[in-house]
Amino acid sequence: MTSATKPEGSAKQFYESLNGLDDVVVAATKVSHVFGEEGRLIYSGYEINQLASQATYEEVCHLLWKGHLPNAAELDALNRALRSQRTLPAAAVAVLRALPSDTNPMDALRTVASAVGAAERIAGKPTFEQAVRLVACFPTIVAGFSRLRQGQDLIAPDPELGHAANYLFMLTGQRPPENHVKSLDTYLVLLADHGMNASTFTARVIASTESDLASCIVGAIGALKGPLHGGAPELVSGMLKEIGTVDNIKPWIDNTLNSHGKLMGFGHRIYRTTDPRAEILRDMAKQASTPEFFALAKGTEDYAIEELNKRKPERRLYTNVEFYSATVLSSVGLSPDLFPTTFAISRVAGWSAHVLEQVANNRLIRPQSKYAGEQGKLFIPINAR
Ligand SMILES: CC(C)(COP(=O)(O)OP(=O)(O)OC[C@H]1O[C@@H](n2cnc3c(N)ncnc32)[C@H](O)[C@@H]1OP(=O)(O)O)[C@@H](O)C(=O)NCCC(=O)NCCS
Repeated sequence: MTSATKPEGSAKQFYESLNGLDDVVVAATKVSHVFGEEGRLIYSGYEINQLASQATYEEVCHLLWKGHLPNAAELDALNRALRSQRTLPAAAVAVLRALPSDTNPMDALRTVASAVGAAERIAGKPTFEQAVRLVACFPTIVAGFSRLRQGQDLIAPDPELGHAANYLFMLTGQRPPENHVKSLDTYLVLLADHGMNASTFTARVIASTESDLASCIVGAIGALKGPLHGGAPELVSGMLKEIGTVDNIKPWIDNTLNSHGKLMGFGHRIYRTTDPRAEILRDMAKQASTPEFFALAKGTEDYAIEELNKRKPERRLYTNVEFYSATVLSSVGLSPDLFPTTFAISRVAGWSAHVLEQVANNRLIRPQSKYAGEQGKLFIPINAR
């Protein structure tokens, strides 16, 4: 690991500046990059806006894994591979069935993804084929869990359907409407990768120890679960529900900020302006929700930005991807507690791309810490303490 910042001032100031690893560069990557000041995100050279409006999730998987958009033959081969790899091994289905129905869906995904790795002996240096396998079966795990907890039968994947459509089909047993498929596919494109975020870093750290791909992905799911990362959209839904009416926006936000609460769906470590994905999702949310609900969401966004920037002008806090994700995912019929797992269904493409990149030119990621404790203590036997 190398630091982009040189020690300046006292050692204490330097170590404090590393708290949270702001501005520390941990890897060179060609997979994606966030330009925080400009509000831009690119995947392998392409602006996210271009990909969101024109590419499918499967094309984006190819782009992230191989560094270029697929030609027709390459896309056909990838589609066939993904569609043939959706079914879970029997041992993973048994684990899925054994989970209590009130299991957190992220815990279920993490556990069953681990079971797939164990049952299929995903081992050795991570491969493209293993990445395809894990991406292909994530929707099967989440949809299967969602059905079992409601006492419903599992639905077999439909090889005629693309990734997004098949996920919705396995959740409901109904062929989804085209507008839902398009919305979900665009969401999957938007969330597929995002520079050196916490879960991607986690995956790369595990990869750097020469562990296997399933272990990298299971670790990444754990990192994504937290509300400061992928757990926020579920909380955005709760927040908007609590606010309830346009009239309540100002008092609710004032009250939350006055009591040092966080507004979910706002702020970002890297962006100093609106997240470009939030701009796209806002347009989608406008199409997908009722005028009343959109007025509530937009009113909350406008007042939150105004108030956050009044209170923290130096931070420049804006809407992040999670704010309108909640509205878009609700509009395709997903329950709020499946939002984080749906984020993972998308991001597993990016995680695996980063792992493949890490192992292609690996060096163990092993940072240093600053020891802040005491030294020179003398051991006292237990009966003398
Ligand atoms: C995303 C997030 C974790 C980034 O964290 P970060 O880079 O460490 O930002 P900081 O915590 O340093 O924020 C700086 C200040 O702004 C405040 N702030 C940041 N985001 C805020 C938010 N959404 N609501 C209220 N205050 C916020 C912090 O409380 C902090 O105030 P302080 O200096 O008085 O302690 C943070 O903005 C957040 O918690 N947002 C809400 C959760 C969320 O939307 N998560 C999804 C991320 S995509």
